Amino acid sequence: MKDILDFAKEILLERMGEDGTFVDFTMGNGHDTLYFAQYLKKGHVYAFDVQEMALENTKKLLQDNGGFANVTLIHDSHHRVDQYVREPIDAGIFNLGYLPGSDKSVTTQCETTMEALEKAVNLLKTGGVIVVIIYPGHKEGSREAELVEQFCAGLDKHKYNSYKYALLNKSNPPYIVAAEKFIPRNRYTGEPL
Ligand SMILES: C[S@@+](CC[C@H](N)C(=O)[O-])C[C@H]1O[C@@H](n2cnc3c(N)ncnc32)[C@H](O)[C@@H]1O
Repeated sequence: MKDILDFAKEILLERMGEDGTFVDFTMGNGHDTLYFAQYLKKGHVYAFDVQEMALENTKKLLQDNGGFANVTLIHDSHHRVDQYVREPIDAGIFNLGYLPGSDKSVTTQCETTMEALEKAVNLLKTGGVIVVIIYPGHKEGSREAELVEQFCAGLDKHKYNSYKYALLNKSNPPYIVAAEKFIPRNRYTGEPL
């Protein structure tokens, strides 16, 4: 079985060609930003974080790996995504919570997470997907878990599928919730409508 971060990447890559548009809603130290920048040779990555340190670390990581013209680093909250990303997106990731080894008080917050998630889902191209990695083991995380699941469970079933991928035999492990805007298909032939 796959580790959740590897599984998240697999789900995301499945939906994107090398010319895709990807949003990293929680840049942190930039590992996901770098991973998708390397993949999207003809595409673009937008990455958000509220911490100056995250932008500095990510800038350095990108430079150390050769530099990338296909990345826009944005020092702002992800709930303002619509101010920066004007085109439909193929995929996006929220890795919620706080940055390991840094200030734990700078954690993602329910209100802004939910506003950002709703905007992210609205930006999706048909066939695109948003993956949220949830850490329910702290107070804000447990509330985020409840709200993200509620939101994804309530998505219009004629346009979206939403999923949950979780370990069963650990207490409060991180887990994935994903929402895809599916391609409507003929139920008999499987051909896109
Ligand atoms: C779990 S870390 C992300 C780890 C990152 N994906 C990596 O590869 O290192 C969560 C990040 O979300 C950021 N964050 C918190 N609130 C945010 C907000 N409103 N908008 C954007 N980023 C936010 C934190 O500063 C932190 O860097």
